[in-house]
Amino acid sequence: MTHVFRYERLATDGPARLGRVHTAHGIVDTPAFMPVGTAATVKAQRPEEVRATGAQIILGNTYHLMLRPTAERVAKLGGLRNFMNWRGPILTDSGGFQVMSLAKLRKMTEEGVTFQSHIDGTKHHLTPERSIEIQHLLDATITMAFDECTPYPASHEQAAESMRLSMRWAERSRKAFVARPGYGQFGIVQGSVYEDLRRESVEALAGMDYEGYAVGGLAVGEGQELMFQTLDFTCPMMPEDKPRYLMGVGKPADIVGAVARGIDMFDCVLPTRSGRTAQAFTRRGTVNLRNARHAEDPRPLDADCACAACRQYSRAYLHHLIRCDEILGLMLLTGHNLQYYQDLMRSLRGAIGDGRLGDFIARFEEDQARGDI
Ligand code: GUN
Ligand code: ZN
Repeated sequence: MTHVFRYERLATDGPARLGRVHTAHGIVDTPAFMPVGTAATVKAQRPEEVRATGAQIILGNTYHLMLRPTAERVAKLGGLRNFMNWRGPILTDSGGFQVMSLAKLRKMTEEGVTFQSHIDGTKHHLTPERSIEIQHLLDATITMAFDECTPYPASHEQAAESMRLSMRWAERSRKAFVARPGYGQFGIVQGSVYEDLRRESVEALAGMDYEGYAVGGLAVGEGQELMFQTLDFTCPMMPEDKPRYLMGVGKPADIVGAVARGIDMFDCVLPTRSGRTAQAFTRRGTVNLRNARHAEDPRPLDADCACAACRQYSRAYLHHLIRCDEILGLMLLTGHNLQYYQDLMRSLRGAIGDGRLGDFIARFEEDQARGDI
């Protein structure tokens, strides 16, 4: 049962696309949200719980796994999917973005980047070739090209230089990729908020014939309006017959706006970072369960949600667990947030399929603005 890696576009509604990505490890219905499983776990969830929310693909990280437990050890243990018992496709990020946000004493050259581990200070080296090798050892279903996420703000000159480095690294990444049936590699479009640079980047990558294309360098401080403007001109430049992935996005409203502009895949730590923030996403906007107003509230967090937290527990109980830093609070809140994100993606797919995405977005914005209570 080998599948060819393939994107199937099933319907469109304006720039928005309903589709399906076929991979060696299963199908991904798009638009799709990928829960983040940085350290070979989607924090506080068992893989079967993640799957039960509707997630069909998760994300893993080259940077974290190369440090602990190392790519070679994961390979010895049958690859990341076997190691963590996730029975579906996995996409791995290539490491450069995490080096820049987490590692110490970073040094970048044409060759790659050297850095000190944020865990024990040991020295490491990442190049396009090594990043792709690590992702191969992890047995990633989708491998990301090694890139530099251009910081924001960047002058046109800075953004051009950074993007062109990423395009040279993309060439090396593509050469290093070991093609196998049902496996794919995505190139990453850079160019900050500049239309001419995004075009140059898309054209360079399209010539390398990747199985999919990501938009990188967004959600880095430019704000939603500039991000949407950048997508407005970047998406139409991208190949229509390949999946499009917006990296590191985002809040529910960011995802809805990006889907409307033609993006197919997303990942973000927001739904799983809830442990640190006690933030719950609901059809009426975000709710902070640490807030005292929930202390005696017998109602469910979100009456329209089918997750375990909403079916079986009160806001008062969730509030209590969070206040006591109980592990179960984290588990229930994370499960709810992942369910919310997957429900949102399912609704978006339904709306595109029915050709009523505009109506859906109007109702989504109304409900979010109405607020909790
Ligand atoms: N995650 C969020 N943005 C980026 C990006 O620009 N590049 C990579 N590799 N990962 C990201
Ligand atoms: Zn819920």
